[in-house]
Amino acid sequence: MTSATSLFSPVEADLRLLTENLKQLVGARHPILYAAAEHLFGAGGKRLRPAIVLLISRATMPNQDITPKHCRLAEITEMIHTASLVHDDVIDESELRRGVPTVHSSFGNRIAVLAGDFLFAQSSWYLANLDNLTVVKLLSQVIMDLAEGEIQQGLNRFDTSLSIESYLEKSYYKTASLLANSSKAAGILSGVSVEMARDLYTYGRNIGLAFQIVDDILDFTSSSDTLGKPAGSDLKSGNLTAPVLYALEEKPYLEALIEREFTEQEDLDQAIALVKDSKGIDRSRELAAQHAQLAVQNLVDLPPSASRQALIELADYVLSRLY
Ligand code: IPE
Ligand code: IPE
Ligand code: MG
Ligand code: MG
Repeated sequence: MTSATSLFSPVEADLRLLTENLKQLVGARHPILYAAAEHLFGAGGKRLRPAIVLLISRATMPNQDITPKHCRLAEITEMIHTASLVHDDVIDESELRRGVPTVHSSFGNRIAVLAGDFLFAQSSWYLANLDNLTVVKLLSQVIMDLAEGEIQQGLNRFDTSLSIESYLEKSYYKTASLLANSSKAAGILSGVSVEMARDLYTYGRNIGLAFQIVDDILDFTSSSDTLGKPAGSDLKSGNLTAPVLYALEEKPYLEALIEREFTEQEDLDQAIALVKDSKGIDRSRELAAQHAQLAVQNLVDLPPSASRQALIELADYVLSRLY
């Protein structure tokens, strides 16, 4: 598949190579893993995270080509992301991902857990081989954060007292940490200043938060066909996201429905209707837009280039998925 968007054109060739490399890196060891790798990396992932790593690599190396380490970092980033999805789909008992059956529904839970572990382990190996301790620390932190995020989410199921701040913290751990730390790591491989490294981190963090809020809105407003994964599943499983948390402020009955975990027939449909009838979706859109805007402010010190421009426009792309 070509990129989800022409925005990735400065790194289109890099991304094509990345997909091939990923299939080979992951698949070389075992036929089952080869099948899983073909399955995952051949399917239509948006490759947003490696695209950002590559765009930042190019934007921070203005008059030179990017290095093999930059490319490997992009691959590692997609490997970590994919591993987290394989495990997330086991936890969520989700049947569809990237428009194809999930690893656990095709190969069983045991293979899916092992395939996810293998991807994490393999990403750590390639990470260590970058020979850059700062980058190793940044990306190892991400792997810890992913587990922390899943745990927080698991503990807070059906908890209607959850605050927007806690929701954002969980979203940082589950989603934004990877974008923040891999963005910073790309800059570090280019030898940027401490200030620029911090800006790149903040860019990734805010893009990541905007992206997760948008994903959570789409779970209410989009279809499984469009998303390539099941829609309407967050609320059902008790994962209370921004639209619900805002809706709870104006719909007291929603709280009762969630507290009894949708045990009565029609409860879930009624709850979804209450969310849609509230200002929850609009307020969530505003929250996502705020983070997208914050992200862009961190790119002012990058020298002008096609890649920098793409990073700026990417903030709009994240929001445009809503329309
Ligand atoms: C899915 O990420 C998980 C979230 C953080 C919402 P993507 O929507 O980027 O998944 P792929 O890589 O395109 O499949
Ligand atoms: C993001 O959260 C998944 C991870 C970062 C592990 P979601 O649970 O919202 O992702 P989807 O909706 O299954 O893609
Ligand atoms: Mg999920
Ligand atoms: Mg989701």
